[in-house]
Amino acid sequence: MSEPVSIAPDGTLDVPDQPAIACIQGDGIGPDIWPGARMVLDAAVRAVFKDKKKINWVLVPAGQSSYRQTGEWLPRQTLDTIKSLKVAIKGPLTTPVGDGIRSLNVQLRRHLDLYACIRPVRYYTPVPSPMKHPEKVDMVVFRENTEDVYAGIEWASDSRESRQLMGLLKTHLGCDLPGSSALGIKPMSPEKTRRLVKKACEYAFEKKRKTITLMHKGNIMKFTEGGFCKWGYEAALEYFGDRIITEKDLYATHEGIVPPGHVVIRDRIADMVFADVLLRPEQYDILACPNLNGDYISDALAAQVGGLGIAPGANIGNDCAVFEATHGTAPDIAGKDAANPCSMILSGAMMLDHLGWQKAGDAVRQAVSRALAGGRMTSDLAGQIPGVEAVSCSAFSNIIMENLEKSF
Ligand code: NAI
Repeated sequence: MSEPVSIAPDGTLDVPDQPAIACIQGDGIGPDIWPGARMVLDAAVRAVFKDKKKINWVLVPAGQSSYRQTGEWLPRQTLDTIKSLKVAIKGPLTTPVGDGIRSLNVQLRRHLDLYACIRPVRYYTPVPSPMKHPEKVDMVVFRENTEDVYAGIEWASDSRESRQLMGLLKTHLGCDLPGSSALGIKPMSPEKTRRLVKKACEYAFEKKRKTITLMHKGNIMKFTEGGFCKWGYEAALEYFGDRIITEKDLYATHEGIVPPGHVVIRDRIADMVFADVLLRPEQYDILACPNLNGDYISDALAAQVGGLGIAPGANIGNDCAVFEATHGTAPDIAGKDAANPCSMILSGAMMLDHLGWQKAGDAVRQAVSRALAGGRMTSDLAGQIPGVEAVSCSAFSNIIMENLEKSF
């Protein structure tokens, strides 16, 4: 019988054998990639758990198709359903164009307080990459989703609000800014940093990762980005002092040898991280970042391993989790059965992990890996490798399916 996932009193997930999971198919290539993704995810659950477990998908409207049918881009009912089911997967959504309309993704994150954007980035052979050794990239970005300059608190140049605020800044704080300035506010708080870093630590323990790097610009923005770094260390040590060691302590008291069962926490300035992940990617593991740094670095890392078409993602809070393909609606290829379904499929694998069905998640990742290694892929990748045959989105989903079935 289909039941919702629930949260146990200790904050862990209580997952029934037949959970109801919300699904937003998405706009543009959403309807191209979703049928194959659903087929592969259902098959993985069936193959691992036989008839014992099964997902019951609950399709909910959002985006352009919802607007056409209901006049609403993101109906209240959709938010309520995701809130009650706790877990959802979504395809890409068109951002409505017009003054005052915010991105639907931002609205979803806000309403459901999905404060951690999690993007694992790893390489799959033979995906074309600009790196000499893309296989050295194996990182997970934890990006704070709710504050920083992305909080959307800004005023246009020459607006009444910006002039008013500049007046206050000049009178009370002695800041004399050019009168025509546009202004934005960059709020960053200890509590929101702490919950992000706590999540990154929990992930590191669960997935047996080695290092968490706090990525910040605290050398310049001392109280916001510098605060992120300081609060990040404090949270990690307060919550997990018995299992976390700072890089400083590692060398001061342990001669650089990590004590068994420990994860190292360290910090790096953001600009150096961009250079390092190209030059020494093997030195990076989990990256915990404020919103803007996290946005830049996750797309840059995705490019290092072959682009957004294969990069999965999740937005997770304490109550709900929404797994999503990280690319957009790709209007240029929508409806042509040409899109790469991997990002959606691999986001689904993350969702299976989240449900505690890791074996099914692993089966999906392995099937994707074998399908790509088989040398036939969608045109976004095939077009960059001489001699490789391009196949359609549905054909590639079937190839992944065949590889999944072969391993059982
Ligand atoms: P986009 O990611 O849709 O497209 C950029 C380029 O990548 C295009 O050439 C497209 O064909 C290609 N591409 C993207 N995904 C692909 C896939 N799975 N397989 C093969 N090729 C793929 O970004 P763009 O054009 O900036 O945005 C289009 C729309 O998507 C906009 O309305 C934007 O707001 C929305 N968007 C939604 C996101 C989400 O829902 N998470 C994320 C990014 C953009």
